[in-house]
Amino acid sequence: MYQKIKGTEDIYGDDISYWYWIEKTAREISAVYGFEEIRTPIFEETGLFVRSVGETTDIVQKEMYTFEDKGGRSNTLRPEGTAPTVRAFIENGFINKGFPQKYFYIGPMFRYEKPQSGRQRQFHQFGAELFGSPSPLADAEIVIFVDNFLKKLGLLDYELHINSIGCKECRITYKEKLKEYYQNHFEELCDDCKARYDKNPLRLLDCKVDVELAKSAPKITEHLCDKCRKHYETFRNILDLEEIKYFENPRLVRGLDYYNGPVFEVVHNRLGTMSSIAGGGRYDGLVKELGGKDTPALGFAAGLERLVLALKSENVEIPKVRTNLVYVTHIGNVVAEAFKLANNLRSEGIPTALEIMERGLSAQLKHAGRVGSKLVVIVAEEEFSEGIVVVKNMETGEQYEYDKNFVVSGVKELLESLK
Ligand code: HAM
Repeated sequence: MYQKIKGTEDIYGDDISYWYWIEKTAREISAVYGFEEIRTPIFEETGLFVRSVGETTDIVQKEMYTFEDKGGRSNTLRPEGTAPTVRAFIENGFINKGFPQKYFYIGPMFRYEKPQSGRQRQFHQFGAELFGSPSPLADAEIVIFVDNFLKKLGLLDYELHINSIGCKECRITYKEKLKEYYQNHFEELCDDCKARYDKNPLRLLDCKVDVELAKSAPKITEHLCDKCRKHYETFRNILDLEEIKYFENPRLVRGLDYYNGPVFEVVHNRLGTMSSIAGGGRYDGLVKELGGKDTPALGFAAGLERLVLALKSENVEIPKVRTNLVYVTHIGNVVAEAFKLANNLRSEGIPTALEIMERGLSAQLKHAGRVGSKLVVIVAEEEFSEGIVVVKNMETGEQYEYDKNFVVSGVKELLESLK
């Protein structure tokens, strides 16, 4: 027997309703905010991710699903959606369409991480990217978009954490300060952090091991240049005016290297260690870095698996996807009539199952009960010849007789009364 690959999930049963709800809400809110859908390939040239996510990040160093194709080219299953969207933006000449340009995507991503609840090797993101605006209004727009999305889903128990990691210039002085601080504690650092010290000192703040050291480290927000400080301030002012609650977290640096300026993460309070349900920020240098014209950009992505966990943890009532609401059974030589009736019910959009196993009536009724049908339509040869069809309410056991020409309207009325 084959088994699914570690870190992947089959999504089925009751969970499907959660996925429908999240995807439907994501599509609706994207349309409302003016984001168009983009679907990029699941795999890309490896270099795209190395160049954008960053050579020294955990994703590139340890987590990419990289393989050689039969032509000897190195490909990688996308670990995230920003780099592919930027690649598509450049390659398809979106720059000529005027600014801002706004895209969203929903789809699977792949990272070779240690699987646990809320962390998979194949997971799904809803993400959005906005191109062309250097203004803090765009940063606020993205955060408000995320907040509205989460509220529309029905979530309440989450926190928005924000920070600014400044531009290249602010980071030159800040990195020096940071290294000065960590130099005095070098021997206490974990092995990963010892390597980060030279290669990517900002990431020292993000370490899950050396948490205490990071708490007293110098704060980047105290070393921002004038432009970055003002940008961050306006961003926060808009959030204040829009009454979006946030926490400033000077240790929030994100796990990808392309960011500059404001960054953010949304943390759900009931998810334990894998609590980040969404994250994003500004990445003004990336379009140019990947060969396009200098174009400011920013965005976010939310993890769908974690959103499902969050909805469950808050007991959010979501619309259930209904199948088999009505079950059409048949006895005797009435197959054509049963097919026709099922077809008529289905044309009205009523989720209808039709008996296709050729069982006896009691077996049909038993199965209708097992699949949760609310009503069973019984097309029986004898009654049908007299122009009658019986409909049974599976909950109460009550039976109703209808003229064969009025079954659909009868079923509709009964379903209405069951709501
Ligand atoms: P990220 O923070 O790496 O950002 O991922 C975004 C979200 O994806 C996380 O907050 C989390 O909910 C989910 N996620 C990440 N890894 C896993 C995993 N292994 N299993 C389950 N869920 C996971 C990005 O990917 C950026 N591209 C976001 C962005 C878009 N920034 C600007 N534009």
